[in-house]
Amino acid sequence: MKLTRPLIIAPSILSADFGNFAAEAQRVERSGGDWIHCDVMDAHFVPNLTFGADVVRALRKASKLPLDVHLMMDRPDLYMDRFIDAGADNVIIHVEPKEYDVAKTLSHIRSRGKLAGISLNPPTPVEAVLPYLHLVDQVLVMTVNPGFGGQSFIPTGIDKVRFLREKSATLDISVDGGIGPDTGRRVIEAGANALVAGNSLFHHKTLDLAGAIRELRGACLHP
Ligand code: DX5
Ligand code: ZN
Repeated sequence: MKLTRPLIIAPSILSADFGNFAAEAQRVERSGGDWIHCDVMDAHFVPNLTFGADVVRALRKASKLPLDVHLMMDRPDLYMDRFIDAGADNVIIHVEPKEYDVAKTLSHIRSRGKLAGISLNPPTPVEAVLPYLHLVDQVLVMTVNPGFGGQSFIPTGIDKVRFLREKSATLDISVDGGIGPDTGRRVIEAGANALVAGNSLFHHKTLDLAGAIRELRGACLHP
């Protein structure tokens, strides 16, 4: 499948040096990243705890790149404004939690002039996001069970990507979890246009961040 949207590489700051977030954000920008992906975890929806809006504000100060803020929380509706005020550009919420109104939350994100995204976990059928497609700019397909970087890619996400791209040529379809040159190429072929990658970029065996981003981009554009 041909790319219908620009290819976006979104390094995940979760795999960066937590002692040097500002420098790491600048390094992503210098190294050719397109967005900075920020994984916010609440220790309820996922079994890990990361950072909140103040860190997003620090990243905002450090870099001009769009901040792609992935809220892995039971109640993103209660916190989204803090992330928007801190400088988030894309705000992504999950379809799974039952505790909040997904449609209302997506509409609110857009009403604040930000790009809205919906994400789904590997066990969640792709049909779950269909009622929200008209309210979002991005669907983020998880290809690991969220919580930690460095896990293996779960291939059932590939068919979800294909299904979603058939529904829309204009959506950003991003994939998050276990993405490297091989898995990246496969999801781009299926119709994705944005790749979130942590471990494969920040902890590449031989290449620095710029080289790893170049390698990933090359694998997708010239398979
Ligand atoms: C998973 C996070 C991902 C993660 C991806 O819980 O949502 O963004 O950082 O990391 P890798 O690329 O290492 O799987
Ligand atoms: Zn993420």
